[in-house]
Amino acid sequence: MTQDLRELVRAEFIEVFGTTPVGVWSAPGRVNLIGEHTDYNEGFVLPFAIDRRTFAAVGVRDDSRIRVASTFSDEVAEISITELSADAVSGWAAYPLGVAWALGELGFADLGAVPGVDIMIESDVPVGAGLSSSAAIESAVAVALAELWQLDIDRPALARVGRLAENEAVGAPTGIMDQMASLLGRDDAAVFIDCRSQEADAVDLGLAGAGLAILVIDTQVEHAHATGGYRDRRASCEAGAAALGVASLRDVEVADLVRAKELLDDVTFRRVRHVVTENQRVLDTVATLTAAGPLEIGELLDASHRSMRDDFEISVPELDLAVETAQANGALGARMTGGGFGGSAIALVPQGLVSQVQVAVDGAFAEHGFGQPVTFTVTPSAGARREV
Ligand code: GLA
Repeated sequence: MTQDLRELVRAEFIEVFGTTPVGVWSAPGRVNLIGEHTDYNEGFVLPFAIDRRTFAAVGVRDDSRIRVASTFSDEVAEISITELSADAVSGWAAYPLGVAWALGELGFADLGAVPGVDIMIESDVPVGAGLSSSAAIESAVAVALAELWQLDIDRPALARVGRLAENEAVGAPTGIMDQMASLLGRDDAAVFIDCRSQEADAVDLGLAGAGLAILVIDTQVEHAHATGGYRDRRASCEAGAAALGVASLRDVEVADLVRAKELLDDVTFRRVRHVVTENQRVLDTVATLTAAGPLEIGELLDASHRSMRDDFEISVPELDLAVETAQANGALGARMTGGGFGGSAIALVPQGLVSQVQVAVDGAFAEHGFGQPVTFTVTPSAGARREV
C-alpha cells in the first residue's frame, strides 16, 4: 500500500503540474493509546504513529509561488509565498499552506527569500475518523519544506509549526499531541510526551511479541474540532484551572481533587477530574508497559473510557457500544481515542480474537440501528520521513 501511494503521488504530481518532483516525503496518522484532552492542559499523552500515511510529492519552482493539489479536491490552490497569512488560506489547502505560513510566522523561514514549491498530496489516513489525517498532511509538508528550504529546525519545533497552522489557518483549537506523534513515531513504540516541556520519549509497546493487536473501530460518526464540544471542554478546563489558582490543570494532583470538589461547580469539577486522573493514568500506563508489558494495561484503557464517558462527556452512543462490545468479546481493554464526539475507538485484542471482535461489533451496530462501522488493525510505525 505504502509503496503504491509513493509511486501514485509522484505520477499525480507529474500529471497535475507537468514537471518532475524533487522528492516524496510522508507522515503518518496516529492513534492515542491513552491521555485524552490532556495535551492543551500541559499534561501527558501516549500516542503512537500508525501504518496509514500521507505522502507529499514536492517540486521546487523558479519563482516565489506555492501551489498545492490533492486527491481530496479538484481545486489547485495557488498563492505567492509573500502573500501567505492565516486568513488568506481556506478549505483543505489551509493545512499545507498554513504550514508554509507558520514556518515564517515562527521565524524559522524567511518567506521573502525561499523558493516557490508545487505540492501534490495523497493519503490513506481515513479522514474524519479521529486518526489525525490533518496532522499527517501538516507533518509531511513540514518535513518537506524544512529540507527544501534548508531550515534549522528540530522535530518538536516542526510540531509547533503544524499546531500553529491547525490553530490559526484551519481554526481548530487543538493541542500539540497529533503533530508530535506524527513527527516522532517509532516502529512498535508509543511516544510519551510531556506537553509542558514538549520532551518526548519512545516507550516500547511489544504488541506483536505479546500476541496482541490494536483494533480501530471507526464509528463513521463525524466529528469537527473547529467548533462545538472540543472548544467548550477546553474553556471548562481553563475555567477550572483559574478557579483553582493554577496556571494549568497539569499543576493539579489526584490528591488535590478533594479540595477541588469543594471549590468547583459539579460540571467543572468533573471536567477537571477527568484531566487530572487521565494524566495519572498515562503515567501508570508508561510504568506498567515498562514493568509488565502490554498485557497488563487493559484496565487503564477501560478506566480512561469511563472517565471520558461520565466525567468529560465526550463519548457518543456508538463509541460506547464499540467499547462495550469489544470488552465483552475478548478485548483486554478499550476506549475512544482522539477528540471525541464521534471518530474511532481502539481495542487491545489478542491477535486470535480480532475477527471475533470485528464480527461482534458489526452485529451490535446493526442491532442498534447504527450505520456500519469500519474496523481495521493498526501497527505502531515510524514518524515523518523522506521516502525518495
Ligand atoms: C484532538 C486534538 C489533540 C488532542 C485530542 C484530545 O485530536 O487535535 O490535540 O487535544 O483531540 O486528546
